[in-house]
Amino acid sequence: DDFFATVAEKSDGAALRGDYSKIDAQYVVKQDWDAYTPEQHALWRRLYQRQAKLIPGRACDVFIESLEMLNIGDGIPRFEDSSALLFKATDWTLVAVPGLVPDHTFFEHLANRRFPVTVWLRNPEEFDYIVEPDVFHDFFGHVPLLFNPIFADHLQEYGKGALKAMKLDGLSMLARLYWYTVEFGLIQSPEGLRVYGAGILSSGGEIEHCLTSPASLRLPFDVERVMRTLYKIDSYQETYFVIDDFQQLFNDTAPDFTPMYQRLKALEPLPANTLLPGEANLALK
Ligand code: PHE
Ligand code: FE
Repeated sequence: DDFFATVAEKSDGAALRGDYSKIDAQYVVKQDWDAYTPEQHALWRRLYQRQAKLIPGRACDVFIESLEMLNIGDGIPRFEDSSALLFKATDWTLVAVPGLVPDHTFFEHLANRRFPVTVWLRNPEEFDYIVEPDVFHDFFGHVPLLFNPIFADHLQEYGKGALKAMKLDGLSMLARLYWYTVEFGLIQSPEGLRVYGAGILSSGGEIEHCLTSPASLRLPFDVERVMRTLYKIDSYQETYFVIDDFQQLFNDTAPDFTPMYQRLKALEPLPANTLLPGEANLALK
């Protein structure tokens, strides 16, 4: 399924996919929408249609509502059009990038309410599995959530916090927070568990697995617990963390993390399948 390395793991700059020959100082490029082929638009439609069928009853409300408004089912979207809608809603803009960008650059974009979206689309052979994020993951998975004002504010704070964490040697911990929330997060709703993590929403298989499989754990979100927990990049997650709502995510990540980084650095990180004494795996309906 839709697994890929995070920016943090690719920061060695090893063999990135994408054309980096025309970047500006912020790694921004033109999307060059006219260069997409009819086959690529058709592949986007197939990816879109598979996910669209899986979304009802599984994705969180803001994802479903934003997706409808974005109207991106017909082919690879023009970033400028969606960016204008997004800017009206939450003051965020989309910028086109060739692929993964250096940590510092990525966080600078987030801190300035710019979301970097990769321009290239996976090949047909990569329909189910992609190692690096492509335009389908970045756009379909991430952009709809940015229409929620609280989540949008949170992601900007995350960007600022990550720039700070780089100076405090806390980035590995903050990367776990990103992974278990922005990429693989679950959220409570009156109708039951829902997905808000982009890595799940753009995946054909994990979207059902994460909500129903007894093979994975679902634990209440706790910042410190999340930042101690290792994650899998090449299989379904063994643990998901569940927020009550986006306000909880915002509030719980607002305090100064400096003392927490110090404390956690002295502890061994926990394997991805850990259930600590006293922790309760959330019951499935
Ligand atoms: N509050 C964190 C700090 O002081 C910054 C942060 C905000 C990190 C939101 C993640 C998300 O370092
Ligand atoms: Fe992502």
